[in-house]
Amino acid sequence: MFQVREEEILFNEKIAGDIYLMKVSGNYEVKAGQFFMLKAKDRDMTLFRPISIFDCDSYGVSFLYSVRGKGTELFSKMKEADTILLHGPYGNGFPKLEGKTAMVAGGIGMAPLYLTARRNSNSDLYIGIREGLYSEEEINTLENLFEGCNTKFKIGGLVTEIIDFKKYENVFTCGPEVMMQAVAELHPNVYVSLEKHMGCGVGACLSCSCKVSGKMVKVCKDGPVFKGTEVNF
Ligand SMILES: Cc1cc2nc3c(=O)[nH]c(=O)nc-3n(C[C@H](O)[C@H](O)[C@H](O)COP(=O)(O)OP(=O)(O)OC[C@H]3O[C@@H](n4cnc5c(N)ncnc54)[C@H](O)[C@@H]3O)c2cc1C
Ligand code: FES
Repeated sequence: MFQVREEEILFNEKIAGDIYLMKVSGNYEVKAGQFFMLKAKDRDMTLFRPISIFDCDSYGVSFLYSVRGKGTELFSKMKEADTILLHGPYGNGFPKLEGKTAMVAGGIGMAPLYLTARRNSNSDLYIGIREGLYSEEEINTLENLFEGCNTKFKIGGLVTEIIDFKKYENVFTCGPEVMMQAVAELHPNVYVSLEKHMGCGVGACLSCSCKVSGKMVKVCKDGPVFKGTEVNF
């Protein structure tokens, strides 16, 4: 079984459009690319939602999330000093590898790559954002948030167009599946962070099952990070 904690929200701010940054108290040992299961203390929310670790320090762990449905909408309404339920951290996270790494994000797929890039100074982070989604001011806020991780933003078009993959030994990617599939075809050493619906987050319900290397795996337990060449997209 797992231990659910009730932690205090230190802040929960709108960053751009539907994107929020929330910091929750607690001192956790985490690996970059892992996730927590979060739930608002609201009767209408029964299942916890998986959200990646954006950043972590001795005061707490922060999450960058976009509002998609009911659960994330409830998160967006929470205020400083409210409490939230969580358990984790879970998942394998991104591997520690020798050589230069390109990190490629599509949209909110940027969330798990911030800490991953901060902990790997030999990396460049590329973030693709759909055109027209955010104002210039909001894009500036996102750029400021990612300052210090060698980040380049591509607004509109394909983020892969601005990357010289030959310069890199490894590639990490997170975002829409079509983007990750395209990235996995452009380099032999790609690691993808898969996003599947999750019921439990701890390997008990099978809702996150998918095929990797011809075998059924659980994204919550065996992933979410897998070798791109092994994923059956
Ligand atoms: C390991 C992992 C890490 C994640 N990290 C983040 C993160 O850091 N930031 C972030 O914003 N989101 C992240 N997500 C996605 C996030 O969990 C979902 O957006 C969230 O659960 C949606 O909950 P909801 O109640 O708001 O929406 P729901 O009402 O559950 O769904 C709203 C819409 O989103 C779709 N949807 C919901 N969950 C998923 C999913 N997992 N994959 C594809 N489509 C989905 C539904 O089909 C529906 O159309 C992560 C998911 C996984 C599996
Ligand atoms: S979410 Fe239940 S097994 Fe993965």
